[in-house]
Amino acid sequence: MRPRVMTVYGTRPEAIKVAPLVAAIDASDVLEGTTVVTGQHREMLDQVNEVFGIVPDHDLDVMSHGQSLSHLFARVLERLDPVLESVRPDAVVVQGDTSTSTAAALAAFHRRIPVVHLEAGLRSGDLHSPFPEEANRRLTSRLAALHLAPTAGSRENLLTEGVPATDVVVTGNTVIDALLDVVARPVSFRDAEVSRAVDGDGDLLLVTAHRRESWGEGMRGIGRALATLATRRPDLTIVLPAHRNPQVRAAVLPAVEGLANVLVVEPLAYAEFAHLTHRSTVVLTDSGGVQEEAPSLGKPVLVMRENTERPEAVTAGTVRLVGTDPDRIVAEVDRLLSDREAYASMARATNPYGDGHAAVRGVAAIEHLLGVGTRRPDLGG
Ligand code: UD1
Ligand code: UDP
Repeated sequence: MRPRVMTVYGTRPEAIKVAPLVAAIDASDVLEGTTVVTGQHREMLDQVNEVFGIVPDHDLDVMSHGQSLSHLFARVLERLDPVLESVRPDAVVVQGDTSTSTAAALAAFHRRIPVVHLEAGLRSGDLHSPFPEEANRRLTSRLAALHLAPTAGSRENLLTEGVPATDVVVTGNTVIDALLDVVARPVSFRDAEVSRAVDGDGDLLLVTAHRRESWGEGMRGIGRALATLATRRPDLTIVLPAHRNPQVRAAVLPAVEGLANVLVVEPLAYAEFAHLTHRSTVVLTDSGGVQEEAPSLGKPVLVMRENTERPEAVTAGTVRLVGTDPDRIVAEVDRLLSDREAYASMARATNPYGDGHAAVRGVAAIEHLLGVGTRRPDLGG
């Protein structure tokens, strides 16, 4: 019988980043794949599965509105355990730093099933930021048997913490595999206003925000910054696909209500979002995944956070940390829209996060872990 690899995921970014790996496991001659969604995100998760044609084998359906971290974590632990008991996988893959991923890693560990951590080794260095993700990813590293690190820097972080070098493989980030897949597809925008903005030739500012540590004052500041930019620059179109989290919507949206050049839309399907990133002039975000994708598409990214666990694009010069102070955000966006040189220095396509082949490296490493294959060389190795 072929070794069985179970992939567990629950939020939008996890779904995007596991999709290439799930496809590569399915394509493997020596592994058998099975998928479990926790449903931590309901609509945003289903939207991604649809884009990649994935029909999960099991759905734990854990989401509740305004879910607390502990309740969510406990539900994943409790509902995943019977699935582990009945499927008896030989390895469990978790991705990133969400409550789903750390709870699933712990549930697998409790059953002595080896944990494979996809996107391992990211560190901001501040346990409280991003919250609770920095703690989640450190905890998962303590439980994992195989660490699929996206960059040489993330590998170094793991080695510094005492993870044996033999347990770490540098694969690149599967988000680049997913991105290259969807940008190659033709796309049409379902929202008519977004479609018009894309077809126009004016400057377009693409904005996303959701970070828990910015709830409240930080998010209100982001809303004020967008209102100021929209008022001062009537020719600028701001597109804000609003995260479904009600805390985010309540804090950001009132400030931009009624402004004709701010398009607040529902979360976009991944292919639409990728094409919109490509069409945009500047990206303003607090997202992890967007920080990784936009540099590949040659877009300057202003990150509304004080620190990042993704320093590679900052070093490459395409990402800049701007925090959540509205005056700073307005000044930084203004600078990029007014100063050609400043813009050109940031708008260079770089690929610090992968070459589009992270999933095949990851699957080879999993096959090696389970004694049915050999590893490929590290990315850049
Ligand atoms: C979660 C992850 C965060 C990740 C982010 C990506 C944790 C603790 N947080 O944050 O690491 O960066 O996802 O977006 O794991 N909701 C819906 N429908 C959806 C999705 C969310 O209604 O499809 C609402 C629900 O009311 C839910 C709330 O948003 O309770 C918050 O969702 P949750 O997953 O707890 O936190 P996020 O802030 O989305
Ligand atoms: N994304 C999307 N539709 C949107 C906004 C974002 O498909 O309307 C994608 C984006 O391309 C990236 C991912 O969602 O791959 C990022 O998700 P999010 O910001 O929610 O989470 P994070 O990456 O911060 O954990």
